[in-house]
Amino acid sequence: LANGLAITPPMGWNSWNHFSCKIDENVIRQTADAVVSTGLAKLGYNYVNIDDCWAEIARDEKGNLVPKKSTFPSGIKALADYVHSKGLKLGIYSDAGYFTCSKTMPGSLGHEENDAKTFASWVGFLVALLVAISSLILLDVKMDMQFPQGIDYLKYDNCNNDGSKPTVRYPVMTRALMKAGRPIFFSLCEWGDMHPALWGAEVGNSWRTTNDITDTWESMVSRAEMNEYYAELARPGGWNDPDMLEVGNGGMTKDEYIAPLLIGCDVRNMTKETMQILANTEVIAVNQDPLGVQAKKVRMEGDLEVWAGPLSDYRVAVLLVNRGPRRTSIVAHWDDIGIPPKSVVMARDVWEHKTLKTRFVGNLTATMDSHACKMYILKPIS
Ligand code: GLA
Repeated sequence: LANGLAITPPMGWNSWNHFSCKIDENVIRQTADAVVSTGLAKLGYNYVNIDDCWAEIARDEKGNLVPKKSTFPSGIKALADYVHSKGLKLGIYSDAGYFTCSKTMPGSLGHEENDAKTFASWVGFLVALLVAISSLILLDVKMDMQFPQGIDYLKYDNCNNDGSKPTVRYPVMTRALMKAGRPIFFSLCEWGDMHPALWGAEVGNSWRTTNDITDTWESMVSRAEMNEYYAELARPGGWNDPDMLEVGNGGMTKDEYIAPLLIGCDVRNMTKETMQILANTEVIAVNQDPLGVQAKKVRMEGDLEVWAGPLSDYRVAVLLVNRGPRRTSIVAHWDDIGIPPKSVVMARDVWEHKTLKTRFVGNLTATMDSHACKMYILKPIS
């Protein structure tokens, strides 16, 4: 979507995978605190996204969504101010239907303009005053950068709708957000049923390519697989979304978690291992590479897979995945990954943080444990 956002894939945190409906304003505040104090914010994780269950079941007499009094007594505006004061961005959740998936709060179908305005207008009084004054004196500034305000991200689900096509319902919210007066990242949560990768680029900044992830190896790799199907359609401004990470929620081994970035665990209580995975700057750099080309599966032999994608500066990212039950070796061939056959290549293992001493010609082979993956950045040197 041409709203100037999502030049690289979004990074941040979302409440659903760990907390589901058990959220409140303290969890969100403490998460914002933890994202900063752990150093994740500095690495680029800057969205703090509230998922389902944040509003009352009934709108107010003017038709506005009302933050749930028992769990968000200070309101979303106060939360937005708090999250912004930490240098982070706040995301919220609604649904292109009559109720959200949890059925504990209304959806935005038929209320798109009103809700988009509400999201954009959750601005502290002081910020509103400053914006008003600066627009009066016609300061030629990007308001958004000068005065963080309102909601920055909307995840828009597809439950309990009227049966009409998402290609009809989602663009109504796109237009409403475009009119709301501030750039809001628009995340289409349509689960991939109507192939949103084919139409999402004009409607949103990311689109779910799969139904919900669970904290298992099978669920994670099958989501990566479905996401891969649409690799060619990812680009700056609009990304395939294979659902939030489960890293740190406890259902998988370390090897399994080291895999294909919205965090979905409790960042207030992370193990060292979880932090090491999420805070791997070299892996983040691959995800955020300015070339913005999604990697593809380039070879599959039974349970053994090679994924690859080009990076800036004539480099290539290669991922080897052993989906099988036994330790074995996997070979990445140059002709599979787009490197000229005679090139001599330098390889950096980005999980081990080591540049390998060997120079590789023609292929690279690695021995891999069951359910392990290795990622290398390859740089042809001659
Ligand atoms: C759907 C979405 C999930 C989550 C829940 C909330 O299942 O796909 O990511 O937002 O709804 O109810």
